[in-house]
Amino acid sequence: MKAEKFDEFASNYAVECNRALTITGESSEFYAAGRISWVEKALRRIGETKPRRILDFGCGMGASAPLFEKYFDVESYVGVDVSNPSLSLAEKSFGKSGRTFRNINDYKLVGEVDLAYCNGVFHHIPPSERPSPLKCVMEALRPGGVFAFWENNPWNPGTRYVMANCVFDGDAETISSGAAAQLLREAGFQVLFTDFLFVFPKAFSFLRPLEARISKLPIGAQYLVLGRKPE
Ligand SMILES: C[S@@+](CC[C@H](N)C(=O)[O-])C[C@H]1O[C@@H](n2cnc3c(N)ncnc32)[C@H](O)[C@@H]1O
Repeated sequence: MKAEKFDEFASNYAVECNRALTITGESSEFYAAGRISWVEKALRRIGETKPRRILDFGCGMGASAPLFEKYFDVESYVGVDVSNPSLSLAEKSFGKSGRTFRNINDYKLVGEVDLAYCNGVFHHIPPSERPSPLKCVMEALRPGGVFAFWENNPWNPGTRYVMANCVFDGDAETISSGAAAQLLREAGFQVLFTDFLFVFPKAFSFLRPLEARISKLPIGAQYLVLGRKPE
């Protein structure tokens, strides 16, 4: 299936996403906030506290835009995607000064981004086509800029269940964390570390304070590979 398939899901993306996530007891907003808050802590671990220019690669409906402003002192946010209907809805819901939503084919950033972020995008891109968008992220980053690459962990049975029940994941080709780190290395990134997050569904939320201590175990529903563009 083509990447532009999200055109047909744009108007009910959030509904479908939340329907698939029902079993976890949490919403897509919960996971989005968890990811970005985790990135903020991960950046503090490497002494990168103030990313101001943000690229959200495969931004979809743009729901992460306000979350970056919650966790970072954002000067500019650019969300790029291949789905124009998704971008139109993103603009309608989240457009404001300092935020730009554009088609990846019409917009080029070169060396001006401090933090590039992507979530759940690359499992929709056929393996042979993955190097090209990674090159685009690399070009957008400034030297020393950081890439927060989030994907679904195929080793987690809950993830597999959610993806099997998600209408737009029918053609997904999942990526293991090791393969993701290798992809980033092949694209020229220094891979700093990989963390796994979202081990406990809502029913076991009392155990979530443990997440930070077990983030190196490959059991979370998603993982973050943190890469850096060489200086
Ligand atoms: C599952 S959605 C995730 C959206 C958003 N990142 C989020 O966390 O809610 C995947 C998004 O990736 C976009 N996408 C797929 N292939 C892409 C590509 N080659 N370049 C940019 N975006 C792409 C889709 O159009 C879709 O909006």
